[in-house]
Amino acid sequence: MRKAAKKAAVSLRRDFAEVEKITITEKGPADFVTAADTRAQSIIAYELGYNRPDFQFLGEESTPNVPGPNGFSGDWWIVDPLDGTTNFLHRLPHFAISIAHVCDGVPQSALIYEPMTDTEYVAVRHGGAWKNETERMRVSGRTILSHSLFATGIPFKGTLTPELHATFLRELSRCMTATAGVRRFGAAALDLVGVAFGAYEGYWERGIHVWDIAAGVLMVQEAGGVVAHLDGSPFTMGRRDIFACAPSIEFSMRDLLELP
Ligand code: IPD
Repeated sequence: MRKAAKKAAVSLRRDFAEVEKITITEKGPADFVTAADTRAQSIIAYELGYNRPDFQFLGEESTPNVPGPNGFSGDWWIVDPLDGTTNFLHRLPHFAISIAHVCDGVPQSALIYEPMTDTEYVAVRHGGAWKNETERMRVSGRTILSHSLFATGIPFKGTLTPELHATFLRELSRCMTATAGVRRFGAAALDLVGVAFGAYEGYWERGIHVWDIAAGVLMVQEAGGVVAHLDGSPFTMGRRDIFACAPSIEFSMRDLLELP
């Protein structure tokens, strides 16, 4: 994973330096893919496939059929070669490569790598979550909601049904009122890393894709955090919503988001 990410990072850094020359395609409303995404994904797919040809590969930029919940039987690589594409296109250096090994729907190991800062986050099931190999990540211990910082992703209008759009706006409004603030930095993998190292007490998002969160979910779990869905049910790989938080704030966050 590390070798794949570092090789892809060289390509991403080169493309970031000349981002105005990059070819861009719009996959859907405000959903862009760049030549940088596809180049990085090819590098990662080659490296991972070379080492584990028996694993199935799901990458953001190449997969027409995305398995739904319970569709990830056997071993899978789940990859977002460039999480934060919109940031990248706007010359904001906040983006990451996200790689997870998932077996029977359960993340086993994960790597999230920030090319512009050379920062690596690794998690291994039952082995903890680590920043740059030496710093163990642990979720926040804050218990007071009004002192807690949350992160979210704001879905582009039309991504969600009108009902879910309204639900998200209500959630955002409630969090704005009750917490120390809500951040929207534009890379879900790094939002989850932020929960894992205690920068954020909580994160939630609706309309998210499995490649954005597969690695980050393991980071939060191995840092002692809670990951679930916005109907209150336990996390299942392949569903399109998520909330993640420190256990110390879980019940307050569930109340705030009006989870069952
Ligand atoms: C996006 C980012 C963003 C999140 C979106 C994702 P991409 O991923 O993670 O933070 O809000 O839902 O689609 O498209 O840049 O890989």
